[in-house]
Amino acid sequence: MSRTYKISILPGDGIGREVVPQAVSVLRAVEELVGGFQTELHEFECGGEFYLREGREWSIEAEEFTKREADAVLLGAIGAVKKDGSSVKLPDGNLAGYSIVIGLRMELDLYANVRPVKLYEGVWTPLSDKRPDDIDMTIIRENTEGLYSPTRGTLKRGDKAELAIDTRVITRKGSERVIRYAFQLAANGHGAPGDGQKRVTCVDKSNLLAGCQLFRSIFNEIAIEYPGIEKDYAYVDAWTQWCLRKPEYYNVVVAPNEFGDIITDLGAAVQGGLGVAPAGNIGIKHGVFEPVHGSAPKYYGSNSANPIAAILSLSMLLEWLGLEHRDKKVKSAGELVKASVSEILKEGKIRTQDLCVGPWSAISPSSTEDVTSAIIKGLKRIQITR
Ligand code: IPM
Ligand code: MN
Repeated sequence: MSRTYKISILPGDGIGREVVPQAVSVLRAVEELVGGFQTELHEFECGGEFYLREGREWSIEAEEFTKREADAVLLGAIGAVKKDGSSVKLPDGNLAGYSIVIGLRMELDLYANVRPVKLYEGVWTPLSDKRPDDIDMTIIRENTEGLYSPTRGTLKRGDKAELAIDTRVITRKGSERVIRYAFQLAANGHGAPGDGQKRVTCVDKSNLLAGCQLFRSIFNEIAIEYPGIEKDYAYVDAWTQWCLRKPEYYNVVVAPNEFGDIITDLGAAVQGGLGVAPAGNIGIKHGVFEPVHGSAPKYYGSNSANPIAAILSLSMLLEWLGLEHRDKKVKSAGELVKASVSEILKEGKIRTQDLCVGPWSAISPSSTEDVTSAIIKGLKRIQITR
């Protein structure tokens, strides 16, 4: 029997409101093309712009549906700016939209932030001696604790003695589950592009920090369960160099929360920019998928934002739903979306400004919508030849 999946669509702020509708068009097209499943989309306004207007980050209905009813969530980006250029904040100092982007990760216990770093053919990388065959790793960022634990505060605001404290909490439970996720992903995958070896790299700062020492010792414990997978270590500062020098060595990389945040922006640069970097926040029952990029308010309305990161996040959403519900149709829909993106990038003709660089710098940039149309046409072509 064909199943209906309920999806919460949260475009958020800025270019999130441009790229999410593109991903939705791709979803409608692939759903019709593949058949055998339906999606029921529930779209809600939310984020900093909504907060400025309504005095809350999202409606009660949006929050209830997203947390309790949705089978999956597609999120655009959060972050609005005021006329003077400063960010819209909540009274507690947090970014307006915090409850959505960080709150969902914490409340739905989305412990693994999965960020694939893959260089597609037809995309320029700043690493001049590297090719698509060299860059294909997945960074797993711990997503519910670390420096993002809400154990922070300030004292004596405005005083000479003012101080602010952020506490980095690392627990056995939080580390075990994310590290196991990384090993399992490596076990199911094809190994590192350089040598085909299945490998998990633990990126930490265990030469100094107690939390990282715990994280690494748990990494060693879990590694014993996976004798076929090579365990590898790097201190986070050193890893930023290795990532540029020998990306082909990396297969799956696991890191505590804030380190994972930083190194995934580096990963995005290596794979051709934030315009092509997707992500999934994954827990036991829930999944929230969002591009790595932010809301880039100054580009909103110019129809120039790259929709590929959002479309690849949709592809991850479908593949995850397929695995969760053992639904081959949905999974194949996700694979088809990815295949079409890959095809369009390889053809090298239709692309937004951010990808008109290097060997593609002479190409005249396409609009956000043109890229989506090309991907939708691509779906149909690939479906026929499959
Ligand atoms: C990300 C973003 C968020 C984070 C911000 C918007 C709070 O940078 O998803 O990487 O730090 O996690
Ligand atoms: Mn980030």
